[in-house]
Amino acid sequence: MRISSKIEKAINDQISYEASAVNTYIAMGSWCERTGYDGSATFFFEQANEENTHMLKFVHYLNNAEAEAIIPAIEKPQSKFSSLESTFQAALKSEQTVTKLINDLVEIAEKEKDRATSLFLQWFISEQVEEEILFQTILQKFEIYGREKLAVYQIDQSLASIRSQVMAKKQISR
Ligand SMILES: [Fe+2]
Ligand SMILES: [Fe+2]
Repeated sequence: MRISSKIEKAINDQISYEASAVNTYIAMGSWCERTGYDGSATFFFEQANEENTHMLKFVHYLNNAEAEAIIPAIEKPQSKFSSLESTFQAALKSEQTVTKLINDLVEIAEKEKDRATSLFLQWFISEQVEEEILFQTILQKFEIYGREKLAVYQIDQSLASIRSQVMAKKQISR
């Protein structure tokens, strides 16, 4: 099945955004690693891997739809942050942007009456719900424990395993 050129272009834009998310998260992980926030460094490097799988899902989708996935050049991401909390604020903001982009993509697919692409995008809709919950949960920790050095240290330590904790909690509530 050949997808429309409009959808091909929109998905290629999304590939570009996912690719920049990969590097953004590696840059955040790298800053954390340099700064001594080892738990968060682990977290961000894993997060970068996840974004890479998102990117590949779109790449495979286009290539299998008789279209061409374009692998983009990427701008250098922000490399310095003022605090651990600010990296997570930037991450949440980026995820909120992605949620909006995915919603826009769904709208384009619906307008084009492209049911296969709409269905393909459903996975990303639930993925974005999870991504936003994850970052909100992390930011909440700063509200609960505070921003003193010891509190931030403890938050950082908890981040190495936060993904599995949050996911486990959600499995129960589902
Ligand atoms: Fe993503
Ligand atoms: Fe994401």
